[in-house]
Amino acid sequence: MQIPLVSFVSLALLTGSASSKTVFSGLSVNGVDQGHAVGVRVPSSNNAITDVNSNDIICNTNFIQPVSDTVIKVPAGSQVTAQFHHTSAGYTGLADPSEPLDPTNKGPVTAYLAAVPDATQPTVTGLKWFKVWQDGYNSETHQWASDRLFLNKGNATFTIPSCIASGQYLLRAEAIGLQNAYTYPGAQFYMSCAQIEVTGGGSATPQTVSFPGAYATNSASIITNIYGITDYTPPG
Ligand SMILES: *[C@@H]1O[C@H](CO)[C@@H](O)[C@H](O)[C@H]1NC(C)=O
Repeated sequence: MQIPLVSFVSLALLTGSASSKTVFSGLSVNGVDQGHAVGVRVPSSNNAITDVNSNDIICNTNFIQPVSDTVIKVPAGSQVTAQFHHTSAGYTGLADPSEPLDPTNKGPVTAYLAAVPDATQPTVTGLKWFKVWQDGYNSETHQWASDRLFLNKGNATFTIPSCIASGQYLLRAEAIGLQNAYTYPGAQFYMSCAQIEVTGGGSATPQTVSFPGAYATNSASIITNIYGITDYTPPG
């Protein structure tokens, strides 16, 4: 296939350092890959969500159709891996210096759960979310979660708490780009939601936040100059 040069030029501009672009599009459970776009609502664009007060901050928008109707079984206490790649196509094997995200992207990676009656339900507003994992900035190594995500080839691995109730959940995993977050809007939010069913859980009732709502436009976690930073706390 012949691709006109202009495509490469505009692609290079689009993938410049200001906008890193990454998409969470697949989940592994205890190291078993469930497949690309299986049980994950994959946005068709890798553009960032930047409005923390929009409903798009919940689970992203404009999903690849049809959205998977798979609900992934996740034993409580198991390790899951949210797989991020540069585009919504997932891992393509093509040489891409911005796979799974551009290394100039700097920021935290977070994961939340919200209990739902049915993990395939389209409705994502009004849910109560609790954070199950976050990775921020290590001030000794000066390494960001995004650096670790890059080194791990897009795999963000964390534990689903063993204490939470069994049942269906949306799992919201997110990479945040702060390299342009001097003002609001500037921080870039890249998230998708996976559809899971937690089995063998407990009875804990975690404290929750709402989306939108969990992220404030004046938060020091969202407006920040990362160059010369000494300490950082992820939002939420
Ligand atoms: C990332 O996860 C996928 C799917 O589980 C796995 O095949 C791959 O080996 C992992 N890559 C790294 C670098 O851990």
